[in-house]
Amino acid sequence: MVEIGINTDTAAQILLNGGLVAIPTETVYGLAANALNEKAVLSVFEAKQRPFFDPLIIHVFSIEKAMEYAEFNDERLEKLAKTYWPGPLTLLLTKKKNIPGIVTSGLERVAVRVPDHSLTLDLLKKVDVPLAAPSANPFGYVSPTEPKHVQKQLGDKIHYILDGGNCKVGLESTIVGIEDGCVCVYRLGGLPIEELEKTLGEVKLLINNSSDPKAPGQLKNHYAPQKKIVIGTIAGLLKLNDPAKTAIICYGSEDFKAPGATVFNLSPNSDLKEAALNLFRFLRLADESEHEMIICELLPDKGLGRAINDRLKRAAVT
Ligand code: TXA
Ligand code: MG
Repeated sequence: MVEIGINTDTAAQILLNGGLVAIPTETVYGLAANALNEKAVLSVFEAKQRPFFDPLIIHVFSIEKAMEYAEFNDERLEKLAKTYWPGPLTLLLTKKKNIPGIVTSGLERVAVRVPDHSLTLDLLKKVDVPLAAPSANPFGYVSPTEPKHVQKQLGDKIHYILDGGNCKVGLESTIVGIEDGCVCVYRLGGLPIEELEKTLGEVKLLINNSSDPKAPGQLKNHYAPQKKIVIGTIAGLLKLNDPAKTAIICYGSEDFKAPGATVFNLSPNSDLKEAALNLFRFLRLADESEHEMIICELLPDKGLGRAINDRLKRAAVT
């Protein structure tokens, strides 16, 4: 079984030798490889069984480092980097030639972020190369927020898991770029739109629901558990289904009776931050439960609630 530890020297050595290491970030765990080593990057796609048309995010430890591999070409993106890095924000920047085409699936932009996790920042400084890291889950499944999630699903395919504890945001980064002169959000995530708008004014949502390779990351049936998952009001869904057959994912006050069900309340006190932290863990637990199906309700569509709802809707697509 793959070793789990906190040794950044070991992790750095493995990465510089072309190996794969799961790394902690504030959002979710990443499956990292040296972005400058094409063979290593190739093995990331293989380990995840991820299609090559779906590009990877590179992780660096500072804005200056990002500039070695990409050009901002726009003051607004630079402002966002200065305001939110390290943090749950990925920027689509113009790729420089030193980033291999396999990382970006041939696209001209490269996705870059500075993660907010001290162990991984330490590791990035040690390796001093960008790390290409998608979320450390098999393609299409729920992202991992704890080391054991990675161990369970990818343990036989990777060489080390850097244990940084549980992720403190729990949702993937928000992805932002410029298109036709507008600041566009391509994926809702750990940095709420309201935050971006405070800094830049109105932004455009380009949240796609397609399997179009040009709109990567927004594949419709992403973040999906194996079990059937249905969205609605919990009370309504319980009328249609035998409660004992259901795992329930809810939020806030519980105004339903569900004998025999297992209830996962994302946040009994209606705290969106807490709900984000619990979302992927609960989806996994519900998926592993003895119940036949998962029923869930949407959260208030604001702040982190928007990204959470986005993930729930994608999880529910069959
Ligand atoms: O929080 C996160 O972003 C985590 C942690 C590990 O950093 N990473 C993550 O990676 O969620 P991944 O690969 O699971 O999702 C990244 C998304 C993908 O859906 C991909 O399509 C999109 O970002 N993406 C990457 N590079 C892109 C590019 N050059 N243009 C457009 N979209 C891109
Ligand atoms: Mg992912």
